[in-house]
Amino acid sequence: MILVTGATGNYGKSTIDFLLKKGVSAKNISAMVRDVTKAEDLKNKGIDLRVGDYDNYASLIEAFKGVDKLLFVSASDIVKRLQQQENAVKAAKEAGVKHIFYTSFERKNETETSPIAMVAKAHIETEKNIKKSGIPYTIFRNNLYMDVLPMFLGEKVLETGVFFPAGETKSALATRSDMAEATANVLTTEGHENKEYAFSNTENVSFQDVADVLSEISGKKIAYVNPTSEIYVDALTKAGVPAEYIGMFAGFAESIKQGEFNAAKTDLEKLLGRKPTSLKTYMAQVYSSKK
Ligand SMILES: NC(=O)c1ccc[n+]([C@@H]2O[C@H](COP(=O)([O-])OP(=O)(O)OC[C@H]3O[C@@H](n4cnc5c(N)ncnc54)[C@H](OP(=O)(O)O)[C@@H]3O)[C@@H](O)[C@H]2O)c1
Repeated sequence: MILVTGATGNYGKSTIDFLLKKGVSAKNISAMVRDVTKAEDLKNKGIDLRVGDYDNYASLIEAFKGVDKLLFVSASDIVKRLQQQENAVKAAKEAGVKHIFYTSFERKNETETSPIAMVAKAHIETEKNIKKSGIPYTIFRNNLYMDVLPMFLGEKVLETGVFFPAGETKSALATRSDMAEATANVLTTEGHENKEYAFSNTENVSFQDVADVLSEISGKKIAYVNPTSEIYVDALTKAGVPAEYIGMFAGFAESIKQGEFNAAKTDLEKLLGRKPTSLKTYMAQVYSSKK
């Protein structure tokens, strides 16, 4: 039996849909959710719902009982995540989970000097804990989702242009849907014990490329402005963006600029059996109706 955590979220839900599409029977899939009222759609597909919360150790042991393959989708609360994920790995061990698949994060700089150390730390520690647990594992080193671009670009990007302090460095952003599909492919095939896969695109793109693709889609010139981090933070503060978002966006921009997400890996392409979705295809899906 496969259990998917974070099943009410985008990655978990999408992976379940790919598992069903690939012919896995709903009765062999369980979904861990915090709130069953958010999972009516899963219930209607015949998926067994298990209530579990990363903050509640006893609930995790109960949810993980009888699980052969645990798709452990990383928690979303950056402040509490380290402890929550420790709970999950410990509970997986205690419940006798046979194989743990963890959605981790691509990174190069593993020290506190990383501009996104606050995001990377829990992933690095969780990987260590999984390996220490002795449970067979598969780690997905997820690059930055292409799906975060609209958030970084802001709602008015087609009027204002691309304003983001990421320099000219290219990143191998991949869509969350491609990562979920590859995850489903791994969950339904053999030979992935104690492996790590880089879920990165084979195409690396810069924010100049993002502006160029937007120009092509919208039919008007979309400029890329690469401000200093200080000017960027100041502009977002004046626009009333909450401070925690500004810190997060500026941190990601700086990490992109430092090349944290630049990659030359083909794992995702191999696991999908095709090229990952390109920037142009993704942006056309999101922005064609907005021009
Ligand atoms: N690579 C990237 O660019 C990137 C970007 C964003 C996030 N991520 C990471 O990837 C994960 C999956 O992405 P996503 O887009 O699917 O995120 P998402 O849509 O926010 O889903 C997060 C899921 O985690 C569940 N969750 C949160 N706290 C929990 C807890 N205490 N106990 C049990 N479940 C809990 C949520 O449940 P509820 O529905 O009950 O809230 C939800 O189902 C995120 O959680 C985050 O760790 C990666």
